[in-house]
Amino acid sequence: MFEILTIQCGQCGNQIGNEFWKNITTEHGIELDGVLKDEAAAVDDRKDVFFYQADDDRFVPRAVLIDLEPKVIGGIKNGPMKHFFNPENFFMPKISEGRGAGNNWGAGYEMASKTHEELFDLIDREVDGCDSLEGFTLCHSIAGGTGSGYGSYLLEQLSDRYPHKVLQTYSVFPNMAGASDVVIQPYNSLLTLKRLEECADSVVVLDNTALYRIAEERLKIADPSMADLNTFISSVIAASTSTLRFPSYMNNDLVSILSSLIPTPRCHFLMTAYTPFTSTTVTQSIRKTSVMDVLRRLLHPHQAMVSVSTSRGFFSSLLAIIQGGGAGGGEGVEQMQIHKSLQRIKERKMINFIPWAPASFQITVARKSQFVEQRNRVTGLMLANHTSIRTLLKKNYDEFKKMYDRRAYLQEYEKTSLFSDGTSEFDEAAETVKSLIDEYQAMESPSYTEWGTEREMDEMAPMSSSAIPSTSFPSSTQP
Ligand code: GTP
Ligand code: MG
Repeated sequence: MFEILTIQCGQCGNQIGNEFWKNITTEHGIELDGVLKDEAAAVDDRKDVFFYQADDDRFVPRAVLIDLEPKVIGGIKNGPMKHFFNPENFFMPKISEGRGAGNNWGAGYEMASKTHEELFDLIDREVDGCDSLEGFTLCHSIAGGTGSGYGSYLLEQLSDRYPHKVLQTYSVFPNMAGASDVVIQPYNSLLTLKRLEECADSVVVLDNTALYRIAEERLKIADPSMADLNTFISSVIAASTSTLRFPSYMNNDLVSILSSLIPTPRCHFLMTAYTPFTSTTVTQSIRKTSVMDVLRRLLHPHQAMVSVSTSRGFFSSLLAIIQGGGAGGGEGVEQMQIHKSLQRIKERKMINFIPWAPASFQITVARKSQFVEQRNRVTGLMLANHTSIRTLLKKNYDEFKKMYDRRAYLQEYEKTSLFSDGTSEFDEAAETVKSLIDEYQAMESPSYTEWGTEREMDEMAPMSSSAIPSTSFPSSTQP
């Protein structure tokens, strides 16, 4: 028995978190007020990973919702999910006076430093309510003020206070195509990336640039809304937790999923692909959904939900979660089909793996909920560690450098506590991110295993929150 506590921070974090809860309540046959539908009573699943049962038997999400402005949380409190969350778990610190962090990472971070004791009263209570907490999941964006700044402080505190728990994030990267709505986003992103590198065990990268492109080019949505993007994101989060919630014999806890995906501790930025794409209004027409078809789509260089192409660079690890249709049994996916597909991927050399170690390639079959309308026989999610993620990090880094070299827009940060003695925090964050980019690049070379030896030993030390075995290539299926 183990549980996961979800923490939603800022506008984006709360909006994507909510969509995730809507998805998984449907999958488990739970109404939006937490009441279990009669027909779901006999289903053999693991609702307790994400929910606990209140005295009146309603299912209550293990979730804490944080924001510094009332709009999104207020919407939840007055919307169809008003009786769903524990009302004590909405956290809007009074001293922020509902003003938000105004897109300023420094303001979010400062607000967190002033209010974290109060917040941890909530978090510790939720942790105490678990039999055996496996870890935390933070949903946030890296570009605003609250999800990024408040979220960064929270990541530092969580890894300090709970060093043996897994710390996973679903992190939304800003749209970098065209002019960004907020000029200082690259500052906020870079400062957050430092915490994601140092404190988190795994970061699932959700890239708005790629999500907009998918919505416009593949689903032909003329003017995609946040709701459209959040439909993709919640499908990814729900599918990535499906083996935990509908367990079979593989990948039924977070550590086993992550240890195969993260061969070296710092390189823990995962990309995703999902097929078939659907939105609230459009379904991509797919006539044939065999396992091979789903795998081919997942592995296509332009399929990833990050704005990089996997045609350059290497996979270090890859997990495909295939969900078959049918009444909760993964029917429609036969082991034979998986073996044949692996064989074909190998013969056609469809993917490039890192040259310095045996890479991990796993395919796992997850049961699919009987309460979700099945449009396709087989659906799939890819979670992958691929060296091309460095081009996304580099784009963030370059955008940051362009502004920072001109010392542009630093005044707002200098007004906040972490920058009262100067802007060295920016230099440190830049160094961390630069070295992460270098490590991903080094991973592309056969001599990567020697890369660390040139560096200071302390730089190579595993992270404090390293609940995950640091180097592991588990029994993998090598194509
Ligand atoms: P402040 O409002 O500045 O205090 O911080 P915040 O954390 O509330 O900011 P927000 O979450 O709005 O972060 C802004 C970034 O998140 C921008 O890059 C937005 O495009 C993105 N964003 C905001 N809401 C959503 C959402 O619902 N879905 C997605 N995919 N992105 C979002
Ligand atoms: Mg906000």
